[in-house]
Amino acid sequence: MEKFIIKGKTKLTGEVSISGAKNAAIALLPAALLIDGVTTIENVPNISDVQICCKILKTLGAKVKWIESNTLRIDARDLDCTQAPLDMTSKFRASYYLLGALLGRCHKAEVGLPGGCNLGARPIDQHIKGFELLGASVDVTQGKIAAKVKKLVGTTIYFDVVSVGATINLILASVLAKRTTILTNVAKEPHIVDVANFLNSVGADIIGAGTDIIKINGVDKLVGNHTYSVVPDQIEAGTFMIAAAVSRGDILVKNCIPEHLDCLTAKLLEMGVSVDVYDDSIRVTCNKKLQASNVITLPYPGFPTDLQPQIGVALCLANGTSIISESIWDSRFQYTNELNKMGAQITVQGKTAVFEGVKGLTGAPIYSTDLRAAAALLIAAIVANGTSELYNIHYIDRGYEHIEDKFRALGANIERV
Ligand code: UD1
Repeated sequence: MEKFIIKGKTKLTGEVSISGAKNAAIALLPAALLIDGVTTIENVPNISDVQICCKILKTLGAKVKWIESNTLRIDARDLDCTQAPLDMTSKFRASYYLLGALLGRCHKAEVGLPGGCNLGARPIDQHIKGFELLGASVDVTQGKIAAKVKKLVGTTIYFDVVSVGATINLILASVLAKRTTILTNVAKEPHIVDVANFLNSVGADIIGAGTDIIKINGVDKLVGNHTYSVVPDQIEAGTFMIAAAVSRGDILVKNCIPEHLDCLTAKLLEMGVSVDVYDDSIRVTCNKKLQASNVITLPYPGFPTDLQPQIGVALCLANGTSIISESIWDSRFQYTNELNKMGAQITVQGKTAVFEGVKGLTGAPIYSTDLRAAAALLIAAIVANGTSELYNIHYIDRGYEHIEDKFRALGANIERV
């Protein structure tokens, strides 16, 4: 089992270039199955979630090939299977997108119940409700979901909760449906807009992505021979912005879309950090003690739950008492036990955590509990006094491309053993 050995205490300085968004890429790949043709997708992060997704697509009959280090070519003309292998889908949360894509293209899909990070209960009732409203019958038995339909017919679907996954899945299922589908109370995350832009670029008719209501006029066919580039990763950019602040460093975060990070920029400014925003980069500098602040996670454009553990590290070291309220996931504070081992003073009650700022953190053996927790703990280890060992780094490999190389280029001392 691999681990990182990290020697603190490093002030991070320099430039980092942000990769394509994980959460967009793992939706665009299944989306490519809707296209009766060949698609080239650039700026794809070569991370383990993408690698598993490529393997699954191949088992369904798609030809998938890396033609450059971050460019994938997907040929879905000869799709010949609608059953995704259970052992692969169970490792991979976003495998639920195969349901929407296969239902849309083949009118039939069988997918293992999705796995992924343990963040508490992760229901998919809104996905299922949506497929059923489009006319599909859906069966959940023996650890898998099977859906089939004669013809998907557009209708109005109101989501009871704002769900990224359900919004994307219903877009996938609706693009080739008869008539018009209207999705209301949808999520507005940047990768939802990216999926809609991608599908529109190959002939879909999706209006309103990025707002509360999305309208999808069904089309007969999506055409290939198109090249699309994945949106930069908002969460990776935010992770480096926070790392700059926590290490009292100076990082130019390049190749990002600053407006996707407005809420984090505002929060860092409130905490006394300097943030300079340019067209496609953000410079974060910090040379004084961070100020305490309160954070509540919310769907976009609110503060992302996927940056909650990372900002938690900043609040550990801030002057005064801070509170984080996690409104999306039930079990997203598992990382706080590890930070407490490093000298943090955090108490958790349900979905609220109170951070009493401490002067510094001390290196320790620490265990990643999920993808974003792993990123947070890596930042904590980089700024801590002494040496830390970070275990369960397969989590970080799921979602961050060349993470240790990027941090090393900023001055961190990290070894993978
Ligand atoms: C996506 C992201 C994940 C991020 C999350 C919230 C991907 C692959 N993952 O996850 O990194 O943490 O958005 O920004 O893009 N819910 C229901 N019923 C459903 C679906 C969701 O009750 O059918 C609830 C969930 O329990 C959760 C909330 O809605 O409380 C948001 O979940 P959702 O946006 O669907 O998360 P994911 O798409 O799984």
